Amino acid sequence: MLNNIKVNTLNFIFKDLIENMKEIEIIQPDDWHVHFRDKEILQAVVPETTRHFGRSIVMPNLLPPILSAKAAIEYKKTIQKAIPKDNDFTPLMTIYLTENTDKNKLKEAYLDGHVFAVKLYPAGATTNSASGVKNIEKIMPVLETMATIGMPLLIHGEVTDKNIDIFDREKVFIEQKLDFICREIPQLRITLEHITTREATVYVKEGNQNLVASITPHHLAMNRNDIFSGGIRPHNFCLPILKKETHRKSLVEVAISGNSKFFLGTDTAPHLKNDKESECGCAGVFNATYCMAILAQIFDDNDALHILEKFTSINGAKHYKQHLNKKKIKMIKKNSPIKFNSILSINDKDIVIFKPNFPVYWEVEH
Ligand code: NCD
Ligand code: ZN
Repeated sequence: MLNNIKVNTLNFIFKDLIENMKEIEIIQPDDWHVHFRDKEILQAVVPETTRHFGRSIVMPNLLPPILSAKAAIEYKKTIQKAIPKDNDFTPLMTIYLTENTDKNKLKEAYLDGHVFAVKLYPAGATTNSASGVKNIEKIMPVLETMATIGMPLLIHGEVTDKNIDIFDREKVFIEQKLDFICREIPQLRITLEHITTREATVYVKEGNQNLVASITPHHLAMNRNDIFSGGIRPHNFCLPILKKETHRKSLVEVAISGNSKFFLGTDTAPHLKNDKESECGCAGVFNATYCMAILAQIFDDNDALHILEKFTSINGAKHYKQHLNKKKIKMIKKNSPIKFNSILSINDKDIVIFKPNFPVYWEVEH
């Protein structure tokens, strides 16, 4: 009894010490979901990710999409050339799943080590998803093969039925599609990506052990009011769309719980400013630049700085059966809020950098 009290007191003091810290050191983080695009945007955004992160899973939704190992290898080379010399960074490549994906070629690409995972976009769900999957039944043989070889499936979890309210599309996807896949192939290693709802947190927590979820910094930082605060805010428009505050709180709750099924996937999704500020603006938030600072602030505000490392640097690596990064990064809490650059410039064009609507005191030491 007395010993228990001592241990509890020590735990309390330890946690308190960490929460009051002005400096933390954590294992270098990984980003398990990025969009690097191509051409000049790629050149500009790759260093924003490689500055802090050790590895990223790279999304294949280019135009045309990455459909083969050959295309993935070419794309990887282009990314590698854009990595600044002093950054040690590994891009992990994906293939875009279609109803015509050849399971034998996929198997070969995975076993050769060229391709890390497969991305499932329901057709029409999001940016460049026109070639995505219309009928899940058609891809079941490919998913069976993936389960057998242990290849991860990454899912954009939204139905595309225009009759379903945009705020319900994730929940309905879980009920109508994900649950079916999980029941049919429980051995399949699935990441439900960029989750946005309480229903997703519950489904993943209670679901089979091969089912995990990634969470973005912007879904932890904002709710749907932020799309309309004082006027329409195209830079806060992303898919899945921001949800009500109750959902945001559920996401924060699972992220700071340390539960190993939840980890960071930033979904950093650059679009040119003009393409977002348009009559039909693109979905996506470009958050790579200050992602770690924003997360440290959110975890700190929730007395959970001691969990940050699990969320950014441990849980994902374990799910993907990767070693933890050897390097560490140091984060420092300043006495006044840090000033964010608002724009990443590309020649004469701009990309708007995500900035939350609360002060951020943390930054990564360089
Ligand atoms: C992403 C993009 O722009 O490629 N957009 C987004 O809003 N998240 C696609 C995606 O991940 O849905
Ligand atoms: Zn994405």
